[in-house]
Amino acid sequence: MAIEPQSIEDVAGGLQATGYLAGEQTALVSYLAARLGKPVLVEGPAGVGKTELAKALASYLERRLIRLQCYEGLDEAKALYEWNYRKQLLRIQAEAQGAGWDAVQDDIFGEEFLLERPLMTAIASPDPVVLLVDEIDKTDQEFEAMLLELLSDFQISVPELGAITARTHPVVVLTSNNSRELTEALKRRCLYLWLDYPSTEHELAIVTLHVPGLPQAVTRRLVELVALVRELDLKKPPSIAESIDWARALLLLGADDLTPEVFRSTMSIIVKHRTDLDTVAERVGVKLAAPAAS
Ligand SMILES: Nc1ncnc2c1ncn2[C@@H]1O[C@H](COP(=O)(O)OP(=O)(O)OP(=O)(O)O)[C@@H](O)[C@H]1O
Ligand SMILES: [Mg+2]
Repeated sequence: MAIEPQSIEDVAGGLQATGYLAGEQTALVSYLAARLGKPVLVEGPAGVGKTELAKALASYLERRLIRLQCYEGLDEAKALYEWNYRKQLLRIQAEAQGAGWDAVQDDIFGEEFLLERPLMTAIASPDPVVLLVDEIDKTDQEFEAMLLELLSDFQISVPELGAITARTHPVVVLTSNNSRELTEALKRRCLYLWLDYPSTEHELAIVTLHVPGLPQAVTRRLVELVALVRELDLKKPPSIAESIDWARALLLLGADDLTPEVFRSTMSIIVKHRTDLDTVAERVGVKLAAPAAS
């Protein structure tokens, strides 16, 4: 059966056991979300573990993860439910002539002809789930308003069927990359978690967890360099995901030191814009080379 966390430490430990190293604030907000049944809005730059948090929570709480990936133009038919027109049509055609339209109509608007989309699945699930509404900032405000209603009432009304009410309370995680400001109304109903780039020690622990084979000294150097690169004014600063990729690459290449040469030849793993590459090569590459030259 689903797990009910008893303390913040419980949550931190449980998430860690699934491979997610939560910071203090993350553990606190996750605990509150699970206990108070309030949705969490997680905001922050790309690749800092927003989506992963929802996955880790599902795994720790032993709940099914239901994911709604948002995109521009996402509508209710793809998020809530849709009638299965093809099946309805077949049903109508299969009906022997003479049967009343009323009978057929009652039939084709039954649950059997409903195509459940993620929000409906989360509401209708007999077991408690974790609902991830990923990148909510990609949708428009109308969609947000629809979601709001759902998040306050935990029910969906289908005109032909009546209201479908949640049998269990889902843990809801909404993520946003800040591409647009979300409405106050949405924020008011959610707990808020700002996920930023982690501290050096925290990132060291995360990268070590993902790539245990890389010598610790190299991992530390890597994390320090990533922190340096993040301080530059780049179009796209490297994320945790890229630190992990870089560590994997270094392990594969058998690098036992982050020399200026190794840095230069592999830095495209963490920096992915032409202009950023120049900036990083100049500012960090030179810094790296300097002590050796003098
Ligand atoms: N606290 C953490 N503990 C363990 N791994 C982490 C942590 N934070 C991030 N990661 C790793 O970083 C990767 C990227 O995280 P994730 O995909 O969740 O980022 P995101 O914030 O959703 O980014 P985007 O905004 O681009 O979708 C994950 O695959 C995960 O392996
Ligand atoms: Mg994500």
